[in-house]
Amino acid sequence: MKFQPVSRRLKNGELVIIRECQPQDAEEFLQTAKTYIMDSKEFLITEESFNPTIDHEVKYIRTFMESENSLLLIATHNDKILGNLDLRGGQRTKVRHTAVIGMGMLKEWRDIGLGTLLMECVINWARENPVLEILWLQVFASNVAGISLYKKIGFEISGRQTNFIKIQDDIYTDNITMDLKVK
Ligand SMILES: CC(C)(COP(=O)(O)OP(=O)(O)OC[C@H]1O[C@@H](n2cnc3c(N)ncnc32)[C@H](O)[C@@H]1OP(=O)(O)O)[C@@H](O)C(=O)NCCC(=O)NCCS
Repeated sequence: MKFQPVSRRLKNGELVIIRECQPQDAEEFLQTAKTYIMDSKEFLITEESFNPTIDHEVKYIRTFMESENSLLLIATHNDKILGNLDLRGGQRTKVRHTAVIGMGMLKEWRDIGLGTLLMECVINWARENPVLEILWLQVFASNVAGISLYKKIGFEISGRQTNFIKIQDDIYTDNITMDLKVK
């Protein structure tokens, strides 16, 4: 096991557990991800284009388990999967010290500290990881909650592509990259 599970009470008083995602979580994890993608405008992937099979998801989970610089965490409440944070380490030699973060959670579990907890868990893990030096992420400029969380946890804006994201016809937003040094 790469990550020792963490349990914590959120601002709503509920106890959640953060643990590494396992192949047997694939089906429910997929369902949770589909639901939160449907309930958010802040992802590059759209609901219609997100259709992995359970087999594909099992393989996806295994790639994190087998990669030294990657980690896939899920948050659970009474064994129900609420959301996840994925840390995907670079596989080429010149970027193995970097890892990109993606995250999301069910709408009713947002804004009560779960994102902060997932981030704290992964940053602590990355600090102990022998390879990783830089964590980074991409976020839409319109994602106020996301940017607010990332800044609070220590990420700094490292780049901005103006009007790079086309949300819908004639509506654009900037693509922002943010970095955090862990060593
Ligand atoms: C972005 C996301 C992962 C954040 O997780 P979360 O659990 O909601 O985050 P937290 O509750 O830990 O922290 C959010 C912070 O943003 C703040 N915030 C939320 N909305 C805000 C707003 N409109 N203006 C300013 N701050 C805001 C909250 O107050 C909180 O800060 P605090 O802890 O100091 O009070 C979650 O909202 C989510 O899944 N959103 C949809 C998918 C998504 O955007 N994924 C990330 C793509 S880059």
